[in-house]
Amino acid sequence: MTLRLTTAGESHGPALLAILSGLPAGLVLDRDAIDADLRRRQEGYGRSPRQQIEQDRVDVLAGLRHGRTLGTPLALMVENRDHRNWTWGMSPWPPEGEPEGKGTKTVSVPRPGHADLAGTLKFGLADTRDALERASARHTAVAVAAGSVCKALLHAISIEVEGNVVTEDLERRIDEAHAERDTVGGIVEVRARGVPPGLGSYATKQERLDARLAAALMGIQAVKGVEIGEGFALAEKRGSDAHDEIGEGLRRTSNRAGGIEAGVSNGEEVVVRAAMKPLPTLMRPLQTVDLDTGEPAEALVERSDVAAVEALAVVAEAAVAFELAHAAKEKFGGDSFGDFVAAWQAYLDRIPWRPTH
Ligand SMILES: Cc1cc2nc3c(=O)[nH]c(=O)nc-3n(C[C@H](O)[C@H](O)[C@H](O)COP(=O)(O)O)c2cc1C
Repeated sequence: MTLRLTTAGESHGPALLAILSGLPAGLVLDRDAIDADLRRRQEGYGRSPRQQIEQDRVDVLAGLRHGRTLGTPLALMVENRDHRNWTWGMSPWPPEGEPEGKGTKTVSVPRPGHADLAGTLKFGLADTRDALERASARHTAVAVAAGSVCKALLHAISIEVEGNVVTEDLERRIDEAHAERDTVGGIVEVRARGVPPGLGSYATKQERLDARLAAALMGIQAVKGVEIGEGFALAEKRGSDAHDEIGEGLRRTSNRAGGIEAGVSNGEEVVVRAAMKPLPTLMRPLQTVDLDTGEPAEALVERSDVAAVEALAVVAEAAVAFELAHAAKEKFGGDSFGDFVAAWQAYLDRIPWRPTH
């Protein structure tokens, strides 16, 4: 079965949900490991006080028994603890009693750089909150939980995925921006070690591993650029300086391709980068138009991060983990965990390649 991920949930609604289907039966999951990834997503310099309210933990509602997957859809939930401040404003049903707490007033001043304007027009909404709640990157919490499960599957076949910030001097940039009530972005890199040659395929965007990774990274809020290997820099180079020559043991002497050739993993480390724009909610609001009056106005100021680059590294790691798990499941199949690992082992026995770690 193909690995699939569906999510639901609003930023200040009761909870975020993910359904991950297509996992083999018998994969052992560790709740602490998933919660540790959720914590990593919340840490990082420049995050807003919301992270202190949330302290995310995963709950599993289906697909797991005594810590082992059942081969049925795995339903993950991350509660929004902040919902207790929004019970009237974000009540799924018509709220009872007098308005109280947050989210009780209609928002008509769309923030540039957010879903507020386009979403309000697209869906014919009377309140931009109805657009911005789902568009919020709060959604990435449950995506990280799903990615963590995918990392467990990958670990069983010796693939390790790790995201890191590559932007230098981030803390200084954040401090300067914070002082001026501004925001910053940055660049993250995800590396996957132990990826065997042969994940993905050649021709279409549905098959090519590079296209799938690019879409996965571009699918994260605020990501505006993606590179595989040396990416944009390759455009400036000569061919003799741009490719990875094949040496002893079929290993490469360089890895400019970032571990993918012709849409297929080539056995080298998979290396991808994502560029994040500066976050669009500023404490010194940008100019907008009030949708009720048509008059110039200042955009909504909602509690917000100065930067979320370190969080993006964790979210991007999860996105890459999902895509690699998806491609590995495609290649090795298996309804049971044992079948999946045995197919991987049989493949390694056939090809002259071994993970280097
Ligand atoms: C982990 C993470 C945290 C984010 N936190 C914020 C935030 O606090 N404030 C904000 O304005 N945007 C934040 N964003 C970015 C917005 O969600 C995003 O820019 C917005 O939804 C518009 O989508 P787009 O940038 O992809 O066009 C965050 C993004 C990520 C990945």
